[in-house]
Amino acid sequence: MTSEQIRKLFFEFFKERGHAIAPSSPLIPDDPSVLLTTAGMQQFKRYFTGELNPINDFGSQRTTSIQKCFRTSDIEEVGDETHLTFFEMMGNFSFGPVGTDDPKDRGVGGYFKRSAIYWGYEFITGVLGVDPKRITASIFKGDTEVPRDEISYRIWNEELGLPEGRIMESDRKDNFWGPTGNEGPCGPTSEIYVDGVEVWNLVFNEYYQHADKRLEKLESPGVDTGMGFERLVAVMQGARNVFETDLLRPVTDRVYELAPGLSERAARIFTDHVRAAVFLVADWVRPSNKGAGYILRRHIRRMLAYKIKEDVHVDLLPELVEMVGKKYGGIYPGVSRSEEIIAVLEDERSRFEKAVGQGILELESYKEKGKKIDGQIAFHLYETFGLPFELIKELVPKELAKDLSKEEFEGEFVKHQEVSRAGQERKFGGHGLILDTGELKAGNPEELQKVTRLHTATHLLHQALRDVLGMTVGQMGSDITVERTRFDFSFPRKLTPEEVRGVEEIVNKKIKEDLPVSYTEMLKGEAEKTGALHFFKLKYPEKVKVYFVGKSFDAAYSKEFCGGPHVTHTGEIGKFRVAKEEAVAAGVRRIRGVVE
Ligand code: SER
Repeated sequence: MTSEQIRKLFFEFFKERGHAIAPSSPLIPDDPSVLLTTAGMQQFKRYFTGELNPINDFGSQRTTSIQKCFRTSDIEEVGDETHLTFFEMMGNFSFGPVGTDDPKDRGVGGYFKRSAIYWGYEFITGVLGVDPKRITASIFKGDTEVPRDEISYRIWNEELGLPEGRIMESDRKDNFWGPTGNEGPCGPTSEIYVDGVEVWNLVFNEYYQHADKRLEKLESPGVDTGMGFERLVAVMQGARNVFETDLLRPVTDRVYELAPGLSERAARIFTDHVRAAVFLVADWVRPSNKGAGYILRRHIRRMLAYKIKEDVHVDLLPELVEMVGKKYGGIYPGVSRSEEIIAVLEDERSRFEKAVGQGILELESYKEKGKKIDGQIAFHLYETFGLPFELIKELVPKELAKDLSKEEFEGEFVKHQEVSRAGQERKFGGHGLILDTGELKAGNPEELQKVTRLHTATHLLHQALRDVLGMTVGQMGSDITVERTRFDFSFPRKLTPEEVRGVEEIVNKKIKEDLPVSYTEMLKGEAEKTGALHFFKLKYPEKVKVYFVGKSFDAAYSKEFCGGPHVTHTGEIGKFRVAKEEAVAAGVRRIRGVVE
């Protein structure tokens, strides 16, 4: 079954069931609290809340769409089998008062759990022909605030005949969705899995979450479903991963033709990033150090870095841009503006080369001489030419990078300057960072705010890890970007899901308590005696700042040596989530956390 057939079948199915087909909204949403469109429901937020009339131009409360989406929290993971930054999401939606909620009702009224679940199941098994035996589902198991989703359970179990063992139950982390941005509609979810792969997320928007996290019942509950198109196509085509689908395979194949011998990782990065960049430029995003522009810049620069790293001399981007334009132009006409898109990419390339080209040349000369690159040299390249550490790491062959540690790089940083203060503009070869402590990086005030929230969350995480796992936990490294915090710590084994959840719960509890965050300055020796956490690899000055979270220093939940910046109250952090837990070395674990 081709992806285009699946696209058509999806729209036909929901059209027959009274849905109006809504075009995808642009990648830049009209909601100022989010940078890019991350979900199909985003353009419909105000229909769920009742602010807008739930009856659309077709006289129906039912809508369906395939939405262009962008998620960047895992950009560094792109290159593996599953991660994409740009993707399409199929969805069906119901707004306003619920009518019969009878799946046989082909009318135009609002519906809820029964119709959403029946139709999801019917589309996957009946229309796409997936054997029902391959299906499992999940429901929300309930907590102190939101009750267990008994209705969905009964629909799956008693009405659709899914045995108990094939219905999983989970908590807020897995079976509750939203809101996007600071506030908005949200609710419990029921997911559909094929062969254990989650394909469809059915959200029952029963609540409105306010900025202070308070949940309020919505006047009418709504339905918001989302199914990742690339993933569904992979399942239907029996592809091993999204890059093997008819959506992405042609692009990847062409990348290999143009640059034979390329690593699989680089080929996937080109495939994902070029498509993502085309869609961003088509929606009028231009490279910059701010917001969506910065996301575009990172995509383009990462491709350029990989070109250098893997010694690709052919200029493959123009042709790939045209390919993407041809493939998607029929559905999204903007992406056919290839000439303009290529010009934007070219312009960014010359800026990139000017800014860091010298540094790259110097690095190349080290490589030619077989000189090992350690943290000190990396710092020199950073300070003199503005080459970011991540780029240096990507460019240096493994055998020369054995001594290249982020910790040493950070140590150099601390040696060379006191941790820089927020808002201080520093220029590195045109790289306009306003904050880069080695640990935190921000390119503009919005980013600064985000990394600051993540920074305070990291302190809470550090303490929470010690609470859950014990005193053997010690910091081994830390790196915070706009998308996520990455925290390395000593611990001998993989964390259990319960431990991860426990840590998350503690952090979120401390956030909910909205504790004040402040610092005090003291002599290093004294500070050590207070038990304040610090990073043993770093050299601290004689007088240190100790940031603490809590009403007073003595009663503080977390105390840590740190230069800041931090939020003033933990409530500003938002919701904290562990996105990933993995090993980095023997005895060292790594957690990536995000705030939402
Ligand atoms: N909003 C939900 C999601 O993005 C379902 O569409 O998963």
